Amino acid sequence: MQAAELFKLKDRAALVTGASSGLGARFADVLAANGAAVALVARRVERLEQAVQRIEKAGGRAVAIEADVTDHAAMRRAFDAAEAAFGCVTVLVNNAGVAHSDRALELTEQGYRRVIDTNLDAVFFWAQEGARRMIAAGQRGSVVNIASVLGFGVAKGTAAYAIAKAGVVQMTKALALELAFKGVRVNAIAPGWFVTEINRDYLMSEAGRSITREIPVGRFGQDGDLDGALLLLASDAGAFITGATIVVDGGQMIALRG
Ligand SMILES: NC(=O)c1ccc[n+]([C@@H]2O[C@H](COP(=O)([O-])OP(=O)(O)OC[C@H]3O[C@@H](n4cnc5c(N)ncnc54)[C@H](OP(=O)(O)O)[C@@H]3O)[C@@H](O)[C@H]2O)c1
Repeated sequence: MQAAELFKLKDRAALVTGASSGLGARFADVLAANGAAVALVARRVERLEQAVQRIEKAGGRAVAIEADVTDHAAMRRAFDAAEAAFGCVTVLVNNAGVAHSDRALELTEQGYRRVIDTNLDAVFFWAQEGARRMIAAGQRGSVVNIASVLGFGVAKGTAAYAIAKAGVVQMTKALALELAFKGVRVNAIAPGWFVTEINRDYLMSEAGRSITREIPVGRFGQDGDLDGALLLLASDAGAFITGATIVVDGGQMIALRG
């Protein structure tokens, strides 16, 4: 079997939430470059339209769909629009997310809810909606949730984020168990540190840069480092993988300080 054949996504319709920047924009590019037609979802629609142009220029197929992932009516409209453009979504990448830096004692209820609504609850409801539609259409499919190494370990100032990401890891297992027999696989990727808009200010500060000393490969993640895990989980190359969380962190999680 040739790698291109094993990982191919030709004729598949994919939907990526949070595709207006960072990891999500890259996920959309990679899925499109490997044959999927991709619906890009986020709130900043002008950014999505630029990404669509980039994908089309490279020979791919894509559509921009404006939606807030915490809005259930917008979620259903987004799936409807993606289906109208490319047919039933059979690859769903639940990537949209927000961060915070408040310590637990200072975290407001509003701040806490914003992170949990976006990073945990929305992941569940988009996975649920996507899976319902795959099953109703009689299609096999793959859901890829974007967790984090903070779903396993914790850092100061990340309480709500870490709670949400740990929830995503457990949610991935719970959904995988219930959906496997119906032909829907559910997995997650737990990235380590990648410099994006979500953390650029912190990682580019003196304190942030010192984090690279704790990463065995000696650098932050960069464009391309998540491509392999994404393609494995999205394509039939991962046909027997479900309920898994693949950690892609340059060895950060296995390294003790010192
Ligand atoms: N970068 C890292 O080191 C790292 C590490 C581990 C995990 N992650 C996870 O990777 C995912 C992507 O993060 P990133 O690093 O690429 O950050 P980013 O560049 O800030 O991207 C976040 C994306 O989420 C979207 N988003 C946020 N809230 C949304 C909402 N309510 N509705 C719709 N879209 C929303 C944003 O789009 P709009 O603002 O246009 O809506 C944006 O496209 C997140 O789940 C994050 O937790 C990142």
